[in-house]
Amino acid sequence: MKTGVVSFTIRRYVWAEGEGIVVDKRVLLLIGGGVAAYKALELIRELSRRGIGVRAVLTRAAKEFVTPLSVAALSGDKVYDDLFSLTDETEMGHIELSRSADLVVVAPATADLMAKAATGLANDLASTALLATDKPVLMAPAMNVRMWEHPATRRNLRTLKNDGVLFVGPDEGDMACGEFGFGRMAEPLAIADAVTSWYGHGGSAAGAAAAGSLRGKRALVTAGPTREPIDPVRYLSNLSSGKQGYAIAEALGRLGADVTLVTGPTELADPRGVTTVRVETAREMLKACENALPTDVFVSVAAVADWRPAAPAETKIKKNGAAPEPLALAENPDILKTLAGKKKKRPGLVVGFAAETCDVAANARKKLAAKKADWVVANDVSGDVMGGADNQIILVRPDGDEPWPKMSKTDVADRLAAKIAERLAASP
Ligand code: C5P
Repeated sequence: MKTGVVSFTIRRYVWAEGEGIVVDKRVLLLIGGGVAAYKALELIRELSRRGIGVRAVLTRAAKEFVTPLSVAALSGDKVYDDLFSLTDETEMGHIELSRSADLVVVAPATADLMAKAATGLANDLASTALLATDKPVLMAPAMNVRMWEHPATRRNLRTLKNDGVLFVGPDEGDMACGEFGFGRMAEPLAIADAVTSWYGHGGSAAGAAAAGSLRGKRALVTAGPTREPIDPVRYLSNLSSGKQGYAIAEALGRLGADVTLVTGPTELADPRGVTTVRVETAREMLKACENALPTDVFVSVAAVADWRPAAPAETKIKKNGAAPEPLALAENPDILKTLAGKKKKRPGLVVGFAAETCDVAANARKKLAAKKADWVVANDVSGDVMGGADNQIILVRPDGDEPWPKMSKTDVADRLAAKIAERLAASP
């Protein structure tokens, strides 16, 4: 006997055509077994509120965290959990189940489910649905930070991205296990936004554009400061934290690009889904960048030291009472200008950064011409931008300036990555 709530939700969010109601947006939600499974209930509510029908599959482990009854009550539909259920197979075979939606959403996508999907294992209903589906898949990973950072998970992530799987999250924050870091499942609202934006883009080939638009494209990003040795223990450098460049590399990766990040020394962990090459000096950075060519896009975010000590001492310079000799400096190569000026392997789109403290747009415009870049992202570093979490930029392009409101460096990265995707799609 169903409760009143259940019959109400069934009437509003009927899965298929029935009772005269046609529901044209349907998601198959695979709920993995993690603490974040409780958030799947909120996700179902949010999707339903947006008029998207949800049919849910629970893994065996997921049932330890949420009950099929609560999932059924919220989705207004039967919940599937058994690959070998005769009743389910007669009602709807697992193959049909896997294809009966527009989009397959995996939330939480546990390390185990990601591993199964990456290797093509199909030993329960959720993993079988993932293998059998011909529909796009959106995963919301959720796991302990060490599991997320484990080389095996990173390998699986790369494989899944190459296979065209879309991702939302994970977020950084406190975890149920008491640790802090990346691995927390994206909030239900953010997952619902990713789903609606997928539908908003047409829900098919164009839909995949939202998250997979840079698939098959290669991107090169530089980030962080460079460190120019004076002697074995001293160097010239600057305050760049690398945050903006890392965020851009990761955002391009999220859109499906094959990203190489060449970074100077920073405190940051290698971004997820990106090949990271760590260097020290400007000359090493140039060499690593040239090794990464050809690419479709080059985003030059690094705060490269313009000068280096001309003849670094091989042993530590001693303080011997006398004033030290003035440091003779040599000019470093300009990596942006060098790559933008290449005849053969010039990246298709070259984006420079201009950190300015005054006349921001005008100076950036000069840099656009001087460095032969296609776009320059001008940022006002007179405040606490260097090392801070926020950024305020003006996107300077030959056809005009686009000032963006102050936003987090991650949002700047996402927005810039989307602009890059748009531009590369327009000129393949
Ligand atoms: O001339 P300025 O250093 O202000 O130019 C900033 C832009 O040039 C940034 O995109 C930066 O990554 C790049 N740059 C470079 N190599 C240098 C100096 C700057 O790639 N030696």
